Amino acid sequence: MAADRHVPLAVTSDLWWKNAIVYCLDVETFQDSDGDGVGDFRGLTERIDHLAGLGVSCLWLMPFFPTPDLDDGYDVTDYYGVDPRLGTLGDFVEFVRTARDRGLRVIADFIVNHTSDRHPWFQAARADRDSPYRDYYVWVDEPPEDGPTDLVFPGPETSMWRYDEEAGQHYLHRFYRHQPDLNAANPRVRQEIARAMGFWLELGLSGFRIDAVPYFVEELGASGETTDQDSHAYLRDMHAFVTRRRGDAVLVGEVNLPPDELRTYFGDDEGEKLDMLFDFVGNQALYLALVREDAGPLARALSTLPRIPDRNQWARFVRNHDELTLDKLSDEERQEVFVAFAPDEEMRIFGRGIRRRLPSMLGGDRERLELAYSLLFSLPGTPVLLYGEEIGMGDNLAARGRMSVRTPMQWTDERSGGFSTADPADLCVPTADGERGPEHVNVAAQEHDAESLLNWTTRIVRLRRETPEIGWGDPALVSVDDDAVLALRYEWRGRTVVCVHNFAGREARISLPDVGELVDVLAGRRTSPDLELEPYGYRWLREAG
Ligand code: GLC
Repeated sequence: MAADRHVPLAVTSDLWWKNAIVYCLDVETFQDSDGDGVGDFRGLTERIDHLAGLGVSCLWLMPFFPTPDLDDGYDVTDYYGVDPRLGTLGDFVEFVRTARDRGLRVIADFIVNHTSDRHPWFQAARADRDSPYRDYYVWVDEPPEDGPTDLVFPGPETSMWRYDEEAGQHYLHRFYRHQPDLNAANPRVRQEIARAMGFWLELGLSGFRIDAVPYFVEELGASGETTDQDSHAYLRDMHAFVTRRRGDAVLVGEVNLPPDELRTYFGDDEGEKLDMLFDFVGNQALYLALVREDAGPLARALSTLPRIPDRNQWARFVRNHDELTLDKLSDEERQEVFVAFAPDEEMRIFGRGIRRRLPSMLGGDRERLELAYSLLFSLPGTPVLLYGEEIGMGDNLAARGRMSVRTPMQWTDERSGGFSTADPADLCVPTADGERGPEHVNVAAQEHDAESLLNWTTRIVRLRRETPEIGWGDPALVSVDDDAVLALRYEWRGRTVVCVHNFAGREARISLPDVGELVDVLAGRRTSPDLELEPYGYRWLREAG
């Protein structure tokens, strides 16, 4: 008997991010419309129906602002513009309008922690101690001995202070030296950032992914002097501002901190802060669990996450545009993951991360890929896909640094994967190479193959959208008789869904306790609570009503 998947959804649309499917892409590498080797807003607009067809509901754009592009756009020179290589503001508005027509919201990366050193604010600040822009940044005569010491980019950088000849002082840069940190304690800086956010909300954005949050929050008082300022007040003000301007705007935060430090970033009695946080802890544990073929590390990580208020949500991901950071694992655990998934030194970066996409790490193993992505869509939170994950796209280790996982989208098996008609030597980033390059892995071929990963992903996206229990329900770990199996139970409005994943390359037999008759959501048929899971097998089960 076919299962009835109908769930009354109207009540869930206000907090739309609770049950969204987010898709992260970089305009620069998605589709080039004018043959210059760089993707652009017009190209992206032409490809919107791929995204609508996939069923995602929100697009997250990596930075598209004017930039010298020394950190792939995370070095902004103008918060009010579109980088000329990517198009114009007019192209941006046409894109947002077309996305809205297809029912897609758009959010964008916003870089609040720093600007490019070529930003006019920094140019003015370094040139004149009396400039009103001087205090937009953090300056010291001598780097403080008791200041922060953890380097974000060990290797390329050896200090987070840099002496500037022209300024005659050192400035703070948590990231690359060409990214001076803004002085978040300065109310004028906060006003500038709010104005720029208001501008993009006015042009149709539904919110922002806030880059590097703990760094700018912590920096209040970075220049050595103590401060009694409540540093989180900035986040509260930011949230109040964006939701005043647009009631349904969302703030998604990049906050890679230990579990016990996360809760406070969601909000408190004084006000809301970030609506969603990426779950870096669960992400890293997922890799350890995959390597060990043991659900334990992931189960433990999930149980350390704080309980969060109803309006908040975790942003869940398998891979993002950065290195797969393993900084929260112990040295031994990190080494285990390195040995299995990044055996060569060139696959690793910054001593803590892996610069590969998952299909490469798994040697293209379809069963384990499905396991990982079934988890993405069924662990607590809102799934965030990185472009190309829907087809199992590869990477290119010959590209510099983290650009290895930011290669152009693979549309066809033609030259440059149909991304651009430019000479391949002129592409902004080379395409992925090897077995998962465009000749072997591309959208066009997979559209016509019923068994393709693209069609599998499209199906699971649809089922996830039809299973709001996952986005809204209270998750609880269910104890089962096999360490390789993770079983999670969600309760929501009297409904129960249980998701079961076998991390081992062998069969697993388990019995789910305390459940009635079940419907297998993926297969669309009734099933008993005594389950026989194939190697790397997974089930999403709903208690029959
Ligand atoms: C974030 C981004 C990363 C960037 C950094 C500096 O961590 O994800 O790509 O380099 O911030 O803006």
